[in-house]
Amino acid sequence: MTLFRGTVLDTPDDPFAGGLLRAEADAGLLVRDGQIVERGGFPELRARHAGEDVVDLTGGLVLPGLVDTHVHFPQVRVIGGLGMPLLDWLQHCALPEEARLREVAYAREVAAEFVGGLAQAGTTTALVFGAHFPAAVDVLFAEAARVGLRVTSGLVVSDRVLREELLTTPQRAYDEGLALARRWHGVGRNRYAVTPRFSLSCDEALLDSCGSLLADVPGSWFTSHVNENTVEIATVAEMFGGCPHYLDTYDRYGLIGRRSVLAHNVHPTDDELKVLADRDASVAHCPTSNAALGSGLFPLRRHVASGVRVALGSDVGAGAGLCLLKEGLQAYFAQQLLGGDGLHLTSSHLLHLATSAGAAALGLDGEVGDLGVGKRFDALWLRPRPGTPLDVTLRNATGPEDALAKAFVLGSPADVAAVWVDGEPLRGRPGGDEGR
Ligand code: GUN
Ligand code: ZN
Repeated sequence: MTLFRGTVLDTPDDPFAGGLLRAEADAGLLVRDGQIVERGGFPELRARHAGEDVVDLTGGLVLPGLVDTHVHFPQVRVIGGLGMPLLDWLQHCALPEEARLREVAYAREVAAEFVGGLAQAGTTTALVFGAHFPAAVDVLFAEAARVGLRVTSGLVVSDRVLREELLTTPQRAYDEGLALARRWHGVGRNRYAVTPRFSLSCDEALLDSCGSLLADVPGSWFTSHVNENTVEIATVAEMFGGCPHYLDTYDRYGLIGRRSVLAHNVHPTDDELKVLADRDASVAHCPTSNAALGSGLFPLRRHVASGVRVALGSDVGAGAGLCLLKEGLQAYFAQQLLGGDGLHLTSSHLLHLATSAGAAALGLDGEVGDLGVGKRFDALWLRPRPGTPLDVTLRNATGPEDALAKAFVLGSPADVAAVWVDGEPLRGRPGGDEGR
């Protein structure tokens, strides 16, 4: 067994439902076979387990591993393409790069950069938009397994509007998806997600085949985009004349349920929020992407009031990087800019959105999302270099909530000194994993 020692912050009780930040200045977490089996004050735990190895993480903060509920693996090399709204950005920035993943050697390089980037950012669990090419999705799953991340992903499918080389057919989408799910779903920490790109690029027969695949792979997930951009929404409304709203283009094919995660939802109708709540589906809020593409300000208050699950996504490459601390800060900014329509978020809300809410959205809240007894030890150690603004503000913080706010405002992957999944340091993090 291993006894981890540090200042531990987590959100086992939902702050949106009145829960408080759990903060322990000198906590001990006893980990056996990757699971937290005891938790308490370090001195007391140490006295009872004098023979166990101690990993000393004092200084800085120990947080639950971050959960990214929407991120595109093929887009890591095109982060930072500013100046365009969604559909132009897809055409000029994202899709030309996605086409390059047809070449498996290229996909391998990108997968290593992507998975390494998540690990450096302290992300331990992710719902990943895969590639349009099965071999590239194989490469992603293999790399995630090698490094140790918990990844849910799948083949991205489309059969119209996008450039030719990214298109498929309903039958091929089903067959290739099923073959991938057989290779990867439930293997190690990997799970399969049925992934039509968005209704704008998917004919009805393709969405129907996605519904069949979801039904035929028990425990598989569904993810796509919805209500991101007003031009996109108007185009989908024209294409699907018989649907009352955008969400229905998925719902009518059986794609919306507890294992569904829809990215963005910046412009939902009340009816759509009701369907999402009724189905117990989740929304991935992607705040830097929404700002970068000018998509809009996310109506978090309406989601919370409707009882819709919300978690955070980086939406790389439209999003501004793989760091969920940055997404938390931008989520805060967006609510501030909404004025009276916004929710005032505390740092506890931000940690919840980046950890326990993400775990719940992905159905993993029995295993990860906080650092309580019974959970897996998926964690990161945020330890800034001495003298940096994060270091000096953490030292001068007025309490744990304030320290956590400093972490969201000033923290970056450079401050993530170590990351564990199931009690093991992630492999493949440049610079080693034993801290500095
Ligand atoms: N809608 C369809 N594809 C994409 C994508 O790659 N990024 C974003 N932000 N929205 C999308
Ligand atoms: Zn996206």
